[in-house]
Amino acid sequence: MLLMKITLETLLGETTKEEFLKHYSENRPLHTAKMGAFLKLPFLESLENLLEFWPVGIEAMDPVVADEAKTLELAPEGAAELFKDGRALLFNDANLYSAELQQCLSGLQLELGLSALTYGRNLLYATPKGGGNAPHFDQNINFVLQLSGKKSWWVAPNTHVENPLTRHLIGSEMDPELQSYCPEMPETFPAGGEEFLLQPGSMLFVPRGAWHKTLAHSDSLSLNFTYSAPSWLDLLSAALRGRLAQSPKWRGTADFVSDPLRAPQAIENLDLLLAELAVDVQSWRAESLLGATEHS
Ligand SMILES: [Fe+2]
Repeated sequence: MLLMKITLETLLGETTKEEFLKHYSENRPLHTAKMGAFLKLPFLESLENLLEFWPVGIEAMDPVVADEAKTLELAPEGAAELFKDGRALLFNDANLYSAELQQCLSGLQLELGLSALTYGRNLLYATPKGGGNAPHFDQNINFVLQLSGKKSWWVAPNTHVENPLTRHLIGSEMDPELQSYCPEMPETFPAGGEEFLLQPGSMLFVPRGAWHKTLAHSDSLSLNFTYSAPSWLDLLSAALRGRLAQSPKWRGTADFVSDPLRAPQAIENLDLLLAELAVDVQSWRAESLLGATEHS
């Protein structure tokens, strides 16, 4: 068996878990120059191997926009040519096609203590020399493992919005919900960032919401462990739905809410339900809410 299992300890190399957790809780990036072990799977050894292995479509990034928001889907057969022409390639949800990756992904999620509602996935990026990602932030946390080639990452703290629920690419239209709690976005990459040079065997932890951009100094292949973990808001919404679904009244159709004649009755009905909820919510406890979402 060629696999060396990836765990938090192997990702961190010389760094302790306590030190990592300090970076994690303060939303600071962490670079490991040399990981304690490396994944040895044949399909990760070269782009050629990966293209041969890959069973579904690949996304080719737009060379101008340079972001996964704008990609072209294509079959693996045509991808090598596009890569030679300077297009970065994105291999999405790689854990679905490799039991070994899935095992590492799930194991790491447990070690991080993330919610059972977390959406974890592996992404592979093949970036030609001179290519890279345009400045943006993501709502997920990310561990980048550099497999081959050299790539610079610039990571800057996000002083524009704390705990964003969606990603944002500088210069693009804002998600309406994001705009409701963050009216202003920068037009260029914010100051105060750090540059990290990733080489084969190094790892970068990119915190949730941190601004980042990349540049490949040579043809580069990297593997990401990406986790979109639920916010407190998501956990409460999930638990709330589970509880209120038990009530025939809450399951009732929201009748006449847009009928000018009958709307007062609709408002009265909803006010009654809210008053009952306000009483009920006082007996809710975090432990039982988490019991519903974490299935422990
Ligand atoms: Fe990103």
